[in-house]
Amino acid sequence: MANQIAIFDTTLRDGEQSPGISLNMHEKLEIAKQLEKLGVDAMEAGFPISSKGDFEGVRAIAQQVRKPIITALARAVPKDIDRAWEAIQEAAKPRIHTFIATSDIHMKYKLRMEPEEVLKRAADMVAYAKSLCPQVEFSPEDGSRSRPEFLYQVLEAVIRAGADVLNIPDTVGYSTPEEFGALIRGIQKNVKGIDNVVLSVHCHNDLGLAVANSLAAIENGARQVECTINGLGERAGNAALEELVMALRTRKDFYDFNTNIETEQIYRTSSLISSLTGVHVQPNKAIVGANAFAHESGIHQHGIMTNRETYEIMTPESIGLKKSQMVLGKHSGRHAFEERLQELGFHQLSVEEINEAFQKFKDLADKKKYVMDSDIEALISSELIQIPETLQLDYFHITSGNSLISTSTVRISREGQVVEEAACGDGPIDAIFHAVERATGLEITLKDYRIRAITSGKDALGEGTVTIEKNKRIYVGRGISTDIIEASAKAYINAINKMLYDMKEYPNGDATIEAM
Ligand code: KIV
Ligand code: ZN
Repeated sequence: MANQIAIFDTTLRDGEQSPGISLNMHEKLEIAKQLEKLGVDAMEAGFPISSKGDFEGVRAIAQQVRKPIITALARAVPKDIDRAWEAIQEAAKPRIHTFIATSDIHMKYKLRMEPEEVLKRAADMVAYAKSLCPQVEFSPEDGSRSRPEFLYQVLEAVIRAGADVLNIPDTVGYSTPEEFGALIRGIQKNVKGIDNVVLSVHCHNDLGLAVANSLAAIENGARQVECTINGLGERAGNAALEELVMALRTRKDFYDFNTNIETEQIYRTSSLISSLTGVHVQPNKAIVGANAFAHESGIHQHGIMTNRETYEIMTPESIGLKKSQMVLGKHSGRHAFEERLQELGFHQLSVEEINEAFQKFKDLADKKKYVMDSDIEALISSELIQIPETLQLDYFHITSGNSLISTSTVRISREGQVVEEAACGDGPIDAIFHAVERATGLEITLKDYRIRAITSGKDALGEGTVTIEKNKRIYVGRGISTDIIEASAKAYINAINKMLYDMKEYPNGDATIEAM
């Protein structure tokens, strides 16, 4: 269909390359299943040559996520392409995505290759990928800063070699919408065979123009857009999927394009990714920020009450955002809890998962008068990804105040053994983190720590997020509790458990990538 736009999600590849993000295989799979529910046409599951963990994540997604096209990234070298194919060959719809830089600056200083060599390498590697996989996508990296005549030559050569999709990246987010639109128009006009392939774009957000550039490209003939949830990605990120899709939907009168996205799944997808990556969404972020549908001023509130459209160009319901309701309390039974889970869209939980969630709900209802929808969502998403709980926090004590040194005692169980330790610190969180570190006997580098309230009110659930580093690998842990010190300690232990799990899976380290 001429007015259909294919949505290619690269959260699990370009998004995962964001500083401080590192997802394990189970987390990647959970995200991939949610992206399938969201209705993406294609998802880039990872960069298999980059690490064993990435390879396994891509392979698991290829085996289990059957509706969308599953792509794997590969530099334009045979070993990358072989590894990508090995990871996705069981996919229902596999696609290899190979790339090489075509701008003068990248060819000279990064690749140290002559343009003729790049031209030949691009065509040879597309032909090689095509000999393995039914669908091949090619990207001329730094396309927007490449000489247009050379770019046309490369694109013609890869079309002849069998490419199905040509993806034009604005790798460093340098283009403006007028320029990028003109580049896409130029490609449409000057590249022989362009009508037989899908033209795609991949825009970075260094100048905050990624979505505007992608829309300009669509207006000029692009029919696939590459984007990420919450705009995650290298440096300032990629074009945000939710912004692009909602712009096309809300301004259908102007653009007149359709996508296959179930927009009601946007909010759930955004929250899942934010909680698994530990990258929180800024409150004023378009579409999915906490304030995106909040009306603060009296004039606006009055307008909204009279007619929503005075200040609301799209409804919160259209992205799946329901008003947080005061749902359940400590007298609510299992039946009411299960019903609420269904209403919130958690249809695929097993009986054991529901039992465990119900127990946690009961514990929470003992501490908190009203349990809101967002509390239940937080409980469930902390249940979703099960990695072995090698370390468990049995109890902790804290002594703290503004005129004394904070001290903490913790008792931690590790595979049947219990260890008790105490430590001092600069405040209660520092003290408990030191005590945990002593009890585990591990040397850990703390990279980041954050705490936030999930709901409002004095008895709100607190969510702690802790990022640690070990052997150049990043692990993000999450913990929730009405007690923020407990939430923080749980998050720290969760991050350590992820680290221990990873060290067991990959005793010799995970990274496999070398320079090209
Ligand atoms: O930004 C970029 O150029 C990329 C390519 C690999 C498509 O991510
Ligand atoms: Zn990119």
